Amino acid sequence: MALYSEKVMDHFRNPRNVGVIEDADGVGEVGNAKCGDIMKMYLKIEDETITDVKFETFGCGSAIASSSMATEMIKGKPVAEAMQLTNKAVAEALDGLPDYKMHCSVLAEEAIRSAIEDYERKKRGEPSLTVKENVESEDN
Ligand code: FES
Repeated sequence: MALYSEKVMDHFRNPRNVGVIEDADGVGEVGNAKCGDIMKMYLKIEDETITDVKFETFGCGSAIASSSMATEMIKGKPVAEAMQLTNKAVAEALDGLPDYKMHCSVLAEEAIRSAIEDYERKKRGEPSLTVKENVESEDN
């Protein structure tokens, strides 16, 4: 039996929405301390709807497939709905992930949440934590 579903292989080989949104309304970056994989999510939001989303994943194939699928699932959706997206729903949309790869889909859920939180912070006029993190990492 194949370890990975056809959908996982498709999104891994041919990921959707890869890249950067320069003038993003929300940016989220998360990492998994155990495997060291990192995912960055960019959101463009108009009238509380996600009009565009792009991601960069420095990680395993399941993380790439999960972020690709997750971006497709939230594009065009209201922010409140995207906030509810679970890693389980992403894994199901991919026709499943092996148990020991479920944490890869958690990265996608967390990256989206962190990007939405960044957007909410900006709306309140608070500084973007993500930008601060970037400045720090550029110094190193
Ligand atoms: Fe870490 Fe997949 S092995 S995200």
